[in-house]
Amino acid sequence: MCSENLTAAAPKFFGRRKGRVVRKAKQFLLDNMLPQLKVTQTEDFDKIKLFGAGVQDVCLEIGFGDGQHLFGQAAAHPENGYVGVEVFQNGVANLLGLISGIKEGSNLPNRIEALQYPVHNIRVFDDDVRLLFARIPDEFFDKAYLLFPDPWPKKKHSGRRFVNPENLKEIWRILKPGGLFRIATDHPVYKRHVLRTMRAFSGFEWMAKCGNDWKHEPTDWVKTKYQQKALREGRRPVFFDYRKI
Ligand SMILES: C[S@@+](CC[C@H](N)C(=O)[O-])C[C@H]1O[C@@H](n2cnc3c(N)ncnc32)[C@H](O)[C@@H]1O
Repeated sequence: MCSENLTAAAPKFFGRRKGRVVRKAKQFLLDNMLPQLKVTQTEDFDKIKLFGAGVQDVCLEIGFGDGQHLFGQAAAHPENGYVGVEVFQNGVANLLGLISGIKEGSNLPNRIEALQYPVHNIRVFDDDVRLLFARIPDEFFDKAYLLFPDPWPKKKHSGRRFVNPENLKEIWRILKPGGLFRIATDHPVYKRHVLRTMRAFSGFEWMAKCGNDWKHEPTDWVKTKYQQKALREGRRPVFFDYRKI
């Protein structure tokens, strides 16, 4: 999938790509279903080529984890197209399980037709989103979601945080004017980091008018796995909605 020059330019990724075990059903989904939904690094980024005719908004979710939010949004909005990006293979397999209903212990079919399932408006890039940025035309997406990015709270790791001027420049570029950029986090260091970095960047306008607008889940929200863990452990998430100016 990677062309040589893209591999040479690959940015350093600090998270996990693989769990210790990929179980049978998940491996089946990665081998048989993922190729049908996969966005490759070399194909043209074109709304109709990706989703067919008639798609309204196109939305991006970066680091979708186990895919609950991405799947929930896509199910609630069949009129939209969703591009989900996740490096962690087990997370990608989990999303495919949500779409297909195939779980560990299910009878595995001989053939799988990814586009025959009720939710068929998700495409997947199973690598680092920074490799994809260069392929995405300006003003392509209506919405971009970055939900509970790894906080890297220690100062010595702060350079690894996804919200940084370089990535913001790309997100700003690929969003339509007025497009939504939603960031959620439960980490106090990352909350401050987002506010400071977004203010300094100045290409986005923060939509919040009062505390209610960012201390509570947005109306169209679907809980993520990481958020549920944070809630169990007593951390309160915040939700920052920005619009591209
Ligand atoms: C803390 S988890 C949150 C997952 C999910 N959004 C949730 O709320 O449950 C962050 C995820 O972002 C993914 N990730 C981090 N950097 C990424 C990148 N550059 N491209 C794609 N995925 C990335 C990680 O693999 C990880 O699954």
